[in-house]
Amino acid sequence: MKTMKLAFLFIILPAIIINAEPLFNIKLSKLQKPPSTDVNVFDYATHSKKVALNKYSKYINKRNINRRHHRRAQNTIFIKDEQSDLEYYAKLTIGGQNFNIILDTGSSNLFVPNINCISTTCRNHNLFDPTKSKTFTAAGNPWEIKFGIGSASGITGIDDIQIGNLVAKQQVFGLANVMSDDNINFIPDGVLGLAFDNLNTMNTSTLVSALANNNQIKPIFGFHLSHASNFDDQGTFTLGGVDQTKFTGNINFNKIFYPTPVTVGLWEISLDDAIVNDQPLSFIGRSAIIDTGTSNILIPEADAAELHSLIPGSQLVTDSNNTSAYIFPSNSTVIVSFKFGGVIYSIPSKDLCLMPLDPSTCVSTILPIQILDATTWLLGTPFLKNVYSVFDLTNKRVGFATSS
Ligand SMILES: *[C@@H]1O[C@H](CO)[C@@H](O)[C@H](O)[C@H]1NC(C)=O
Ligand SMILES: *[C@@H]1O[C@H](CO)[C@@H](O)[C@H](O)[C@H]1NC(C)=O
Ligand SMILES: *[C@@H]1O[C@H](CO)[C@@H](O)[C@H](O)[C@H]1NC(C)=O
Ligand SMILES: *[C@@H]1O[C@H](CO)[C@@H](O)[C@H](O)[C@H]1NC(C)=O
Repeated sequence: MKTMKLAFLFIILPAIIINAEPLFNIKLSKLQKPPSTDVNVFDYATHSKKVALNKYSKYINKRNINRRHHRRAQNTIFIKDEQSDLEYYAKLTIGGQNFNIILDTGSSNLFVPNINCISTTCRNHNLFDPTKSKTFTAAGNPWEIKFGIGSASGITGIDDIQIGNLVAKQQVFGLANVMSDDNINFIPDGVLGLAFDNLNTMNTSTLVSALANNNQIKPIFGFHLSHASNFDDQGTFTLGGVDQTKFTGNINFNKIFYPTPVTVGLWEISLDDAIVNDQPLSFIGRSAIIDTGTSNILIPEADAAELHSLIPGSQLVTDSNNTSAYIFPSNSTVIVSFKFGGVIYSIPSKDLCLMPLDPSTCVSTILPIQILDATTWLLGTPFLKNVYSVFDLTNKRVGFATSS
């Protein structure tokens, strides 16, 4: 399999804004120069599928798995990855040591690589050195989690963790001694889980819960994810409230909704429908997991087929390994929208284009991949960078507003 090189250069500038309620604005890292690397579309689709299936495998209700067969075709197509907003990360400091961490609403653990990690994936990363922290205590409990297309494992440690200007004193976190080699292209150092505490497997609360439990912030946070194509737009992650400068109008909230108990603890909400241009698909009973740590939109194959059938010129392409993706003409002006709580949120055609296949064809970022059951969709950054999103732990709801 061709190696994906999605090596971006990021700038990280922590900042703070003081409001009536303490608000902590953390600037998100940003793509400085679009990468220009040949990536095979099927390798990329396979990679995305593996990552999502691996990440969500613990929730899979085996009875609901609906295996579909694809039309078989033989073609390997190379594409140029001109620009994409694949991952968003921020700076975190543990015991005075700096890390770049993915802000992931699709998980609840915090981990960074340990100094003794000899995995290839740990090379060229910031590693935590316990001997260089005066505030570190070894907890030493073993953990192992699914991560990327493989796993990460290690022991727990306790230290003071700083994000923006906030410090969670003596917080339990994971020190990865092993980060499996399937993840060598992982660019940040670690992951900060932003889902609910019950999904934390290190016997601790999430960093956000710890800060809220200690009355340092209100248990709510908001995201403005920037577009790589608009370099002057700064992405922000706001802890303890929302960044009023990044949206207009109201925030419309949707109560967390779990159709099956297996996903309790994720940011899952009921999806009213999807709309292509002005045409509603009339989907019923769908729900969406809102995941800032996923770079695509992954929806079950049958739903993906229905949705793309309304995109003029769209076509399913499949390689010999049965990995599929939809393509559509790059001059398309199609708008795909998702309706939540009666409100329609749109994704313009430029953000539906995961990657150009050739100058006249785009690969759709809506991938035909069922991650859980036939009614659960996974909405990642292509959707989230077109709204201001708000995650409210107290009221267990997700809000969206129009980006300004
Ligand atoms: C199919 O998958 C195998 C194993 O992952 C890989 O070696 C092979 O290159 C893939 N074939 C195509 C056409 O992508
Ligand atoms: C969590 O707690 C259980 C029960 O006390 C213990 O067996 C396990 O080792 C702990 N795991 C971690 C990662 O702290
Ligand atoms: C792909 O699907 C076809 C038809 O369903 C099947 O015959 C074939 O074995 C599958 N190939 C792989 C590599 O899974
Ligand atoms: C896109 O390009 C094709 C081929 O050049 C053309 O036939 C089609 O009308 C164009 N569509 C739009 C929406 O501009």
